Amino acid sequence: DGEMRPWQGATHTVYSPVAVKTAEGYKRKVIGTYPVCTEKEAKEALDAAVAAYDNGRGQWPTMSVQNRIQCVEQFTHKMIDQKEIVVKLIMWEIGKSYADSVKEFDRTVEYIYATIDALKDIDRDSSRFQIEQGIVAQIRRSPLGVVLCMGPFNYPLNETFTTLLPALIMGNTLLFKPPKHGTLLHYPLLQAFKECFPKGVVNTIYGRGATIVPALMQSGKVNVLTLIGSSKVADELKKLHPKVNRLRAILGLDAKNAAIVTENADVKLAVSETVLGALSFNGQRCTALKIVFVHRSRVDEFLSGLSEAVGKLKYGMPWEKGVSLTPLPEPHKPAYLQDLITDAAAHGAEVVNEGGGATFESFVYPAILYPVNKHMRVYREEQFGPVIPVVPFDDLEETIEYLIESTHGQQVSIFSNDAAETAALIDPLVNQVSRVNINCQCQRGPDTFPFTGRKDSAEGTLSVVDALRSFSIRSLVATKLNETNKH
Ligand code: G3H
Repeated sequence: DGEMRPWQGATHTVYSPVAVKTAEGYKRKVIGTYPVCTEKEAKEALDAAVAAYDNGRGQWPTMSVQNRIQCVEQFTHKMIDQKEIVVKLIMWEIGKSYADSVKEFDRTVEYIYATIDALKDIDRDSSRFQIEQGIVAQIRRSPLGVVLCMGPFNYPLNETFTTLLPALIMGNTLLFKPPKHGTLLHYPLLQAFKECFPKGVVNTIYGRGATIVPALMQSGKVNVLTLIGSSKVADELKKLHPKVNRLRAILGLDAKNAAIVTENADVKLAVSETVLGALSFNGQRCTALKIVFVHRSRVDEFLSGLSEAVGKLKYGMPWEKGVSLTPLPEPHKPAYLQDLITDAAAHGAEVVNEGGGATFESFVYPAILYPVNKHMRVYREEQFGPVIPVVPFDDLEETIEYLIESTHGQQVSIFSNDAAETAALIDPLVNQVSRVNINCQCQRGPDTFPFTGRKDSAEGTLSVVDALRSFSIRSLVATKLNETNKH
């Protein structure tokens, strides 16, 4: 509600994944603490958002689009002033390389400006009138109410703003909970929120989602749930809402994106795109390539190219120049990835690259697993880390079957230099996933493209214009042309 709460309660200690060498070996480094809200405090923050919305009569939901845009522009200037500290916190909190942390920041600012432009277009449209059967209708877009917004650790700034910003600019009020790994970096922005938006419009709570979020959902006061995270958590939270059928959910969830390298592929290109797709930010992207199907006739060439390319990647601390592979923020991740590798080995796969799979503290060296088959956990589980399962195939039908049977439906990449072969794959695949990439890796960007998924991968559509629509409703002001209304 526009005030920083003094804090005497519990705190959470933030350990950076960036390891420091000590006498006992590599250790995570403590870089800060943040306060942990109780359920009661979280509910008070929710009530502040409800009061600021005031059933649609609040200052923010009734403000003109131009004035809301001005507030967001003012916020963005202040955010840019904080760039260096936010970028460094991204790097320290989640271990993202300095260069990629800068990219994440810049991309977020570009996203904000693209959203402002898109909103101006939508606003111009709404000032157009539609006249049918003697009725003049002005079509507007109106807010939905109170939005509970939760972003992920892998893009703690960019993905958060992908939902927070459109929700805000459309006139909704917000309760925002940053991700567990990726909380500190939002701290420098809190003052800017306070200075640029009316009281109670943006409320930030810190703490453990599992402890505080269920009560917020049970209160029935959340009109929109927006979460970039796991489908399991999203399903559990939705069920807690007393009027789940009235709840709008805008969700970016799990994915197991596949690459298909056909017998007609440019294997060199497939290799370089697989390295980017599977290992950018250590594979910790919902859009990452998480399984690669390679035609049996091209497997040797693909594996030797991939091993060589992975061997050349620089491993190190996020601030080192040219580094690609960095420590992982989730403490459980190295052991989890090792379990997947052990399970695959028990079912006949090998780690085919040198040094593959080696882990210590928060480091995991990438593992290329081959030959992977359906009896292995890694065939279906979303690893969200630097493990590349490679599956040999003989008939393209096997790859289509994989995607049909999958519970995920975000993206696929086809590598082929045969136009007819590619064309024949596009139709069956585009009905399984929401984006088919031809001769390039899976990715979300450019951020102005629609971003969604089928099955357990998403609900609603994000990215600029779609997100503005998702966080609002079309409403009409209709006037009948008659004597009474002639003025
Ligand atoms: O984790 C999901 C991110 O939105 C991925 O974005 O594909 O541009 O890295 P990206």
